[in-house]
Amino acid sequence: MYQGNRASFGSKSGAILAAAGSAVGLGNIWRFPYETGNHGGAAFILIYLGCVFLFGLPIMIAEFTVGRRAKASTGEAFKAIMPKGCWKYVGYLGVLTGFLILGYYAVVAGWTLEYIYQAAVGNFSDKDPAGFVSMFQNFSQSPFRPLLWLFVFVFITHFVIVKGVQKGIERSSKVMMPLLFILVVMLAVCSVMLPGAEKGVEFLLKPDFSKLTPDVFLGAMGQAFFSMSLGMGCLSTYASYFGKDTRLGNTAMSVGIIDTCVAILAGLIIFPAAFSVGIQPDAGPSLIFITLPNVFQQAFSGAPALAYICSILFYLLLALAALTSTISLHEVSTAFLHEKFKLTRGKAARYVTGGVLVIGIVSSLALGMWNDFKIAGLNFFDALDFLTAKIMLPLGGMLTAIFVGWIIDRKIVREEATNYGTLRAPYYPVYIFILRYLAPIGIAAIFLNELGLF
Ligand code: PHE
Repeated sequence: MYQGNRASFGSKSGAILAAAGSAVGLGNIWRFPYETGNHGGAAFILIYLGCVFLFGLPIMIAEFTVGRRAKASTGEAFKAIMPKGCWKYVGYLGVLTGFLILGYYAVVAGWTLEYIYQAAVGNFSDKDPAGFVSMFQNFSQSPFRPLLWLFVFVFITHFVIVKGVQKGIERSSKVMMPLLFILVVMLAVCSVMLPGAEKGVEFLLKPDFSKLTPDVFLGAMGQAFFSMSLGMGCLSTYASYFGKDTRLGNTAMSVGIIDTCVAILAGLIIFPAAFSVGIQPDAGPSLIFITLPNVFQQAFSGAPALAYICSILFYLLLALAALTSTISLHEVSTAFLHEKFKLTRGKAARYVTGGVLVIGIVSSLALGMWNDFKIAGLNFFDALDFLTAKIMLPLGGMLTAIFVGWIIDRKIVREEATNYGTLRAPYYPVYIFILRYLAPIGIAAIFLNELGLF
């Protein structure tokens, strides 16, 4: 299964940063705050953290195992390890899921470019909170501007993908991730110091368990998978570029910690700021686009130049965080077409880009002109988000846990966890227990709970 000339990451830290680059993105800074806001705050976060540790980390190691062992992208990896039976369809499901996510994710990624532009031309300085609300509504519902930015964003992603693994993916992650982290910490400090911010901190840290409904569990589980890039073979595709000495357990732990810290810090930026300017925390997908510009205006009201620079920098880094994630989503489909149909990388990438643009256009218009077209009561954009994050990702994660826990040879699982017997991997028994029992049963229970079967 090992192919000699396969691309690989140049270093262990490169592997961690690329995986963290995939994990950290709009999921942390855009989706986590609004899901937390919609589901009532701190209680949601507690369940979320439970999902990260109980399902997320073990399933991440399991995905690494599949990818590194097969030395193939996820679409082919399940088949390479288990040629018989239906397991290859788990790989195909992952490719489809990633492709659909990229379709609507790229729309929001495009919004970040509009906000860089608006910040750069100085359009934030004269607005009050209501002004930012209408600015966002006018923009997201207009037909052309969001599409323009969608195209720009997808083409940038395409360009990096065509550049390849080391020069494109690894190099860009190494620069962008540390920068993002510094800026997020800085902004959280500014936001917490705004007048009236305590209510936001309380919302984030003081759980109200009366708010726990089946939806909260499904939402937290979906968010954990989405944010950690799990359940669709994204990280297993990256693991196929890992070296033999990359430690799977350590890498998963590092990615999990980085991803969770960025999400909590994003909460610490958004909620204090939202409460401070009187914006409801359940404003939905628009939340960061209406609260954040306010943070800068208010936190630096005495220093407009600083407000100006910070706004640009923030949206720039948000765009870069989104980019490292769109790259990873794109890579799954591109590598699949490249390996399965023997297309060149360039040609494979062009097909993926074309398909993504079509889904992106429909998702974007669903927020404006085509908002009346509903699937099960949701517009196309929301329906895609629900289907992928809350159903397809947990399902893919559950099947991966079963595959590694029950189906493949235990010797392979142990070899991958211990780097062919050179490491101790003390977590191994717990990891196997979770993959075999806790993760499949827990995920199934959350699905059944949502359907009202408990
Ligand atoms: N984890 C990414 C984010 O938080 C989104 C993503 C999901 C990327 C699934 C790859 C796979 O933004």
